[in-house]
Amino acid sequence: KKVVLAYSGGLDTSIILKWLEVEYGCEVVTFTADLGQGEELEPARAKAELLGIKPENIFIEDVREEFVRDFVFPMFRANAVYEGLYLLGTSIARPLISKRLVEIAEMTGADAVAHGATGKGNDQVRFELSAYALNPDIKVIAPWRLWDLTSRTSLIAWAEKHQVPVPTDKRNEAPFSVDANLLHTSSEGKVLEDPAVDAPDYVYQRTVNPEDAPDAPEFIEVGFEAGDAVSINGEAMSPATVLTALNDYGRKHGIGRLDLVEGRFVGMKSRGIYETPGGTILLMAHRGIEQITLDRGAAHLKDELMPRYAELIYNGFWFSPEREMLQAAIDHSQTHVCGTVRLKLYKGSVNVVGRWSERSLYSEAHVTFEDDAGAYDQKDAQGFIQLNALRLKLLASRERKLKG
Ligand code: ARG
Ligand code: SIN
Repeated sequence: KKVVLAYSGGLDTSIILKWLEVEYGCEVVTFTADLGQGEELEPARAKAELLGIKPENIFIEDVREEFVRDFVFPMFRANAVYEGLYLLGTSIARPLISKRLVEIAEMTGADAVAHGATGKGNDQVRFELSAYALNPDIKVIAPWRLWDLTSRTSLIAWAEKHQVPVPTDKRNEAPFSVDANLLHTSSEGKVLEDPAVDAPDYVYQRTVNPEDAPDAPEFIEVGFEAGDAVSINGEAMSPATVLTALNDYGRKHGIGRLDLVEGRFVGMKSRGIYETPGGTILLMAHRGIEQITLDRGAAHLKDELMPRYAELIYNGFWFSPEREMLQAAIDHSQTHVCGTVRLKLYKGSVNVVGRWSERSLYSEAHVTFEDDAGAYDQKDAQGFIQLNALRLKLLASRERKLKG
């Protein structure tokens, strides 16, 4: 029996690694992804080796470009936001991790995959729905739902009994749980559990406090092609490079902090602190370029579909026919979403201050308050309003009659 484990190199997944060997007698293959979480990956290799994993069973991969190109950018074409505020930074990374777990399982002849998500959260659902969608025969092992190591003390005791090294700073309860990648950092639990109480400053890890951000605004220009950001200040960049650069601007200006209570798919509400610096700028920039390049009908339909699309991603249905159908519609809408957006970054805020495009639908000739030289006949508006008012007038007449 062989299992591919989503392995971070941290204490919890190291314990899971050993537990799979001890409890299941499994041969363990580890998969560690660089999703832009800003941690070195070689320590994860060293740790896996130390725990006795054969070198050929250790998979370490930089998936940053794939993450942004095939997951983050398609999602941003939809302007996807969950419950009005959450930019889905964790949700969108899970399908990619599952995809690689399943592929590595197939490569190494493993029949199972394992992850370190708890039985209370969204992540277990995302990992597993994605895995089953890609391989209907795969088995999933979720140790947090199986073992009885429910306290930190019992977990540490188990680790020590089975020779899993426990760093001294990990002996105590972690102050909160963090998940990070190129798109965002999320923090949940422990000191954040009371939603009435402010999050302590030290929770924020990748943005400066807006109050300490530079006193001078900064202006940047983001270039778009077919709905995707392709350049900053005229310099062409790959998807992961664009997002990395936007993250730097966002960090410096304190952009993209969010304190949110959200409804988890499993039913409970949870409180999270999110930092999505580059993503927050990207969302605003994308809306800016859509403002001039998207037709109103297309734009409004997209906005109606968006909450549905965001919920699918949040709930773990990335690899589903309904998500793919919505994606096809969204991608189709982006054909002419090309051009440049100028943004102002200032103390936690990002605003569009200019946008231009060769595909622009904006017609100054039509909208001008000055003489439009016959582009638009204002007399046409009278009949337009009369016909639209007809129903409203009939309703108002009935109302008057009833009231006597
Ligand atoms: N609540 C967010 C979500 O469901 C973040 C989850 C964070 N996950 C974690 N393993 N810390 O997408
Ligand atoms: C977890 O429970 O593993 C993290 C939080 C979540 O998945 O929602």
